[in-house]
Amino acid sequence: MNLNYIHRIREESPTIVKRTFLNHAARGPLHGKTAEAIQHYTKCWGEFDFEESNQKKKDSRVQFSKLINASEEEILFTPDVTAGSRLAANLINYEKDSNIVCFWNDYVAQVYQALFLKKTKGIEYRPVPDRKNKVLPEEFAQKVDSNTKLVLLSHVQWLSGFKADVKEIAKIAHENDALIVVDSIQSSGAMVNDVKNWDIDFLTCGTAKWLLGPNQAGWFYMKKKLIKEFDPPFASYQGVEFGNYDEPYWNVNDMVYMEGIFKYMNVNPSDFLYAVASGGMGIILEFGIKNVQKRILQLTDYLINELQQLGGFEFVTPLEREYRSGVVNVRVPKNIEIAKKLKEDNIIVSSRYGGLRISPHFYNNEEDIDKLITGLKKHLE
Ligand SMILES: Cc1ncc(COP(=O)(O)O)c(C=O)c1O
Repeated sequence: MNLNYIHRIREESPTIVKRTFLNHAARGPLHGKTAEAIQHYTKCWGEFDFEESNQKKKDSRVQFSKLINASEEEILFTPDVTAGSRLAANLINYEKDSNIVCFWNDYVAQVYQALFLKKTKGIEYRPVPDRKNKVLPEEFAQKVDSNTKLVLLSHVQWLSGFKADVKEIAKIAHENDALIVVDSIQSSGAMVNDVKNWDIDFLTCGTAKWLLGPNQAGWFYMKKKLIKEFDPPFASYQGVEFGNYDEPYWNVNDMVYMEGIFKYMNVNPSDFLYAVASGGMGIILEFGIKNVQKRILQLTDYLINELQQLGGFEFVTPLEREYRSGVVNVRVPKNIEIAKKLKEDNIIVSSRYGGLRISPHFYNNEEDIDKLITGLKKHLE
């Protein structure tokens, strides 16, 4: 593990040198490389050199494909997680007795796709229950059947940090001829993602958390063999072949979709935001996602152990290591008040679900955790 690199990242990052930042499940902090990318964009714009900034945008797509073990042609620009879930949910032809399956307390970017289709098309929604905050394949197996068209799931749950067995749940979906869309925003950049090994159909993500990027620079993955299967569900000139610079520019009598995944593009993706996102993803790729995951789990082991030493806390997060991620949620009395008090001490965590949601990245260290524990002791007295 490259400790010099960790040291440099800390030193270069204005948000974390001033405070103890343990809140990546909410929003990633500003890092030196990201700040550099912003400055670089300003320079490009000042010189009207958009070729260079567009190149950064293209590079960011390759970076994300590497992080999830996809190929570049399987990655589409989408603003946020919701846009990706919505796209997946609207590709499918539903029949009268179709159903959609989703973990009941998943993030609403996913849950609302199921509720919207129920409301507008009368599609049955089957919420999957948890077992003490565990989101388990056997519970999905109880809900998925031959009428299931789509399964929606987060790899890592936003409240509990529970890490699901995506491969097993995808297998259940496919055995029933259903498709699966995975939300990876609480996981990409923190945990190893492998769309090929998971054998999933779609993945939707944003860069503003563990990928250390800006808001509204998101990603959608679609398995290569599915790209030809569907028609774009929404009209947009972004997904249509450009004619030429002689009028009429675009064909105004017919829409000729682009080849490949770009036919699904329905926004004009910002070269600025993706150039900035490439700074954040560069940090993760340079340290290596396996090293990132290993270090995060070491830190959360340490955190859990320290909290257990302090005693008497109930964990929202299931503690078995196979289910763990970068998110640890522990119930404390008056959690909202305590999170505010910690903030006054410059220790940044979130209050969620009756607990404190603590989410360190690889460049946090044991000293950061010690500061949190000291702060907690002080405010719980
Ligand atoms: C699991 C999960 N999905 C999605 C989002 C954000 O969704 P969107 O990018 O559509 O705003 C969050 C944000 O907290 C999240 O935790």
